[in-house]
Amino acid sequence: MTGRSPEQLRSHQWYGTEGLRSFSHRARTRQLGYLPEEHLGKPVIAVLNTWSDINPCHVHLRDRAQAVKRGVWQAGGFPLEFPVSTLSETFQKPTPMLYRNLLAMETEELLRSYPVDGAVLMGGCDKSTPALLMGAASADLPAVFVPAGPMLPGHWRNEVLGSGTDMWKYWDDRRAGLIGDAELAELENGLARSPGTCMTMGTASTLTAAAEALGVTVPGASSVPAVDSGHERMAAASGRRIVDLVRQDLKLSRILTREAYEDAVATVLALGGSTNAVIHLIAMAGRSGVALTLDDFDRIARTVPVLANVRPGGRYLMEDFHFAGGLPAFLTRLTDVLHLDRPTVGHSTLREQLAGALVHNPDVIRPRDNPLAGEGGVAVLRGNLCPDGAVIKHIAADPRLLKHTGPAVVFPDYRTMQRTIDDPALGITADHVLVLQGAGPRGGPGMPEYGMLPLPGHLLRQGVRDMVRISDARMSGTSYGTCVLHIAPESHIGGPLALVRSGDPITLDVAARTLRLEVPDAELAERRAAWTPPPERYERGYGALYGEQITQADTGCDFAFLARPGRNPDPYAG
Ligand code: FES
Ligand code: MG
Repeated sequence: MTGRSPEQLRSHQWYGTEGLRSFSHRARTRQLGYLPEEHLGKPVIAVLNTWSDINPCHVHLRDRAQAVKRGVWQAGGFPLEFPVSTLSETFQKPTPMLYRNLLAMETEELLRSYPVDGAVLMGGCDKSTPALLMGAASADLPAVFVPAGPMLPGHWRNEVLGSGTDMWKYWDDRRAGLIGDAELAELENGLARSPGTCMTMGTASTLTAAAEALGVTVPGASSVPAVDSGHERMAAASGRRIVDLVRQDLKLSRILTREAYEDAVATVLALGGSTNAVIHLIAMAGRSGVALTLDDFDRIARTVPVLANVRPGGRYLMEDFHFAGGLPAFLTRLTDVLHLDRPTVGHSTLREQLAGALVHNPDVIRPRDNPLAGEGGVAVLRGNLCPDGAVIKHIAADPRLLKHTGPAVVFPDYRTMQRTIDDPALGITADHVLVLQGAGPRGGPGMPEYGMLPLPGHLLRQGVRDMVRISDARMSGTSYGTCVLHIAPESHIGGPLALVRSGDPITLDVAARTLRLEVPDAELAERRAAWTPPPERYERGYGALYGEQITQADTGCDFAFLARPGRNPDPYAG
């Protein structure tokens, strides 16, 4: 293998130099049970594993790390597994979004402080993907991402179920009195029937596809089902690949360019992917020194149609997408908007990576002349209610509501909303606009996925299935409805959303990309003068650091001290 000599490896500073320190590190590696000839002079590959007993989306990654290590050994590297924080979308409260930046910090600092030459990043459940890539981008070593892979399709009686999406749907049916306890118990068995990430085009599949489009996975990795033997082969291939990347010194900064991020944006929009990708890609790009903005999303959305017929926006599930050709086939539909001459971890150009990729099912991966929607899945809104922007996944909305004026019903926080939403005294009609305050990055805290506000029970029973809902929250990638999200600045820090009162008319006009509070400026100025900021949520601990450092949704919700450029030296660089 050509490339860098052992002396040029970063780990050489730990193992190969004269003196006490290297002597001690070698002695401690003997303590780990390795002979000198097993590791000395070899690239040290950190396998960062987000496996945990609590995380059903990553529960197979403990085994899968063995396949990664197999690949690393085969290629002449020295693999060392590092368990890192697990971000379980299902279990971690108030939301794993609160902890995305903590995993990013952990990733960056582990890679910096240990004798690591390159990294394999194992994750996939929603925030794990951006967290691992943000940290690795800041550390700027060679790295390969191994997506956890989607779980098997859900089943119930004679129906195929999508995780998340069908959970919301059947819960609404439950609230409407359409299904009982026995059906619910069966659904609990059938909704999620294997390890792996949600098998709809939710946040997990959107972000792992973004990682593949960025070029940081081996080709085709992002849709391999978690429990397919192909997943083990993909993991082993990733392990082999990272050793080559270290030898070539192909650092992440060579891969994660503006062109790569623009291609990832085009990909998630053409997938009809999760709105969460907007925040995460902006944050990830920031770590790569790329100033990606909301306007980039809106601009690119107008150039790509939605071509993935996958739930929640379409009909199929991730396994169907995989067998239809997966992301390489999907990207062949977008070659006119992609930057084909940029490198990926798998090939010297994206063009080369896509050569030979074929779509096997044109109903799942649609041709350009038969799209699911004519424009990318996310629109960026502006107006006096969201001066720094807001987003809406308009393809998941009832088309009749995309231009709508209605009176606000304001809920100051999620608990109040939960307690009162079914109260007939509120007199909520299908024309009302449900407004949730206090659910942003600082107020939520962590921008919980409260953005798909539940509809009042009496309207559900009348058959109403969508209403205009607006908030500074996020929404699960598997959710749907006319939900305006990520309003910036958030209400907790005094954004205009804080000034809305029940009865105020609000106008949403997606075609015009506007969201307006129809209240005179003078009246809003009076309300602002009377507004007092809510108390800080945390007085100590990680939450307090989070409150001090978190940035708003339009800039990616990174920590200010992590997002800014500046010196952060390698331990041996002095
Ligand atoms: Fe983990 Fe959906 S809950 S990917
Ligand atoms: Mg999710």
